[in-house]
Amino acid sequence: MLSTICRKTFPRVPRPASLCSVRMLSDVQNPKTAIVMLNMGGPTHIDQVGDYLHRRLLVEALDKLSPETGPHKHYVAFRYVPPFTEETFAQLEKDGVERAVIFSQYPQYSCATTGSSLNAIADFYKSTPVPKNIKFSMIERWASHPLLAKVFAQRIQEKLEAFDPSIRDDVVILFTAHSLPLKAVSRGDTYPHEVAATVGSTMQQLAVPNPHRLVWQSKVGPLPWLQPYTDDAIKAYAKQGRKHLLLVPIAFVNEHIETLHELDIEYCYDVAKEAGIKQIERAATPNVHPTFIEALADVVISHLNSGQRVSKQFLTRCPHCVSARCQSSKEFFRELCSDKYYEKNVL
Ligand code: FES
Repeated sequence: MLSTICRKTFPRVPRPASLCSVRMLSDVQNPKTAIVMLNMGGPTHIDQVGDYLHRRLLVEALDKLSPETGPHKHYVAFRYVPPFTEETFAQLEKDGVERAVIFSQYPQYSCATTGSSLNAIADFYKSTPVPKNIKFSMIERWASHPLLAKVFAQRIQEKLEAFDPSIRDDVVILFTAHSLPLKAVSRGDTYPHEVAATVGSTMQQLAVPNPHRLVWQSKVGPLPWLQPYTDDAIKAYAKQGRKHLLLVPIAFVNEHIETLHELDIEYCYDVAKEAGIKQIERAATPNVHPTFIEALADVVISHLNSGQRVSKQFLTRCPHCVSARCQSSKEFFRELCSDKYYEKNVL
């Protein structure tokens, strides 16, 4: 749907007609199970198209695969743009849902992304009574899900086809993910090893002889962050004579500013051209790939069937975390996902 061809500029694309009727299409009368999809949120443009569509397909898949917990309805809670956490959680109550699955759209957990969105939910309920008739649970990480690896492998295979067969096996696959300050890594944030786990299982699914590396993008500020940086890696490989590269955004499930601008324009065009790269391609994000919808549905259904409401992994703080906010947030979710507040034996 979205072109991932490296290009200097990309036109602003008019909203598809389907997006004009988002509210109408997503209105489900008397939903039983809410799937609350957490993300940071981004600019209100073409980057939201895939995001919208994958939510909509997800709900249809869940209704089919798990009719006993349906009808399902998707909700979105963004951290930095509307709909914000407070609006979304107020809406759950108004809709009278019986069950709410808080589902992070970051497959790999970081205290800076999923952790931050969850802290916002905990903050909201400091000043608002917790609903007594909703059974809450949480999916905070799914980095190693086999269908996630499968869709990344399919996206990579699509782009490997763009290289001439004579050099295809020598293309360096550069998995790229948002970097993290080293102080967060030293605190014990699990993000680097969760991203590496997705890379490992993707390469296993892909089963090609190509070399690969994990590199990091989008550093901001003067402090040290996880390296090697993606742009530096492109330049360094060019110097080594490795001039055929494939960039794979491995921690983003939708196209947005970091893929469409930073990867496609800055790295694939500006940096690669200056470095003398012969061919560089960028794999599409999962977006609305049918395997990805299958992955999302499987993550939710396995969660609903597991009976687990919150993982011990989430409830354990980073070894060097000294944040009182983290501590109270973990405590809040331990209680929210138990029956402490819950008064109705619905499910
Ligand atoms: Fe990771 Fe607080 S920084 S739990």
